[in-house]
Amino acid sequence: MSASTPHSASDGHASEAVSVAAERRWAFIVMAIIALLVLMMVVTALHWASMPPSRVETVDVKTLHTQGEFVESNLGTTMAPDGKVMVRLIAQQYSFVPQCIVVPAGMPVTFRGTATDAIHGFVVGKTNANTMLVPGFVATFTTTFHRTGEQLMPCHEYCGTGHEAMWGRVQVLPAEDFLSRARNGERLSCVQG
Ligand code: CUA
Repeated sequence: MSASTPHSASDGHASEAVSVAAERRWAFIVMAIIALLVLMMVVTALHWASMPPSRVETVDVKTLHTQGEFVESNLGTTMAPDGKVMVRLIAQQYSFVPQCIVVPAGMPVTFRGTATDAIHGFVVGKTNANTMLVPGFVATFTTTFHRTGEQLMPCHEYCGTGHEAMWGRVQVLPAEDFLSRARNGERLSCVQG
């Protein structure tokens, strides 16, 4: 038994060394995580500051429905004579106008949108078509849809009690189908004419 006392004492010393090493390891891991988070903040801040998502373009909310680009008859998808596809939409509590948007696959599509009452936003399925819609400002971006079919377009900025029920649809048509309908020169809607 006389040998067991020094033996257990050295055991205690060894376990203390193990716990100190473990604490030191965790301290390094936590510091690494904090350093990574700070680095992400710095990189994203500088990145976004040097590359704003779009230029600032304002629009008068008070006259949105009565004049200019965002009157109801001008909303939806159009194709210009030069072949540029443009989608105009507005968001309001709690719907998008239009509720359903037709776009071609494999062609650049430019979105222009704004909101009438609160901050809204949308994302189209799992595509990179994703923006905020802020009253008084025009959000614009150009993207290309690669897969045909219908995509859901939910509002992704909390805008009030009806937020969760606010969503639209995007029908991505094969380019030839879209072009055959767009050539009629009409505004395209999801309802087949
Ligand atoms: Cu509109 Cu949330």
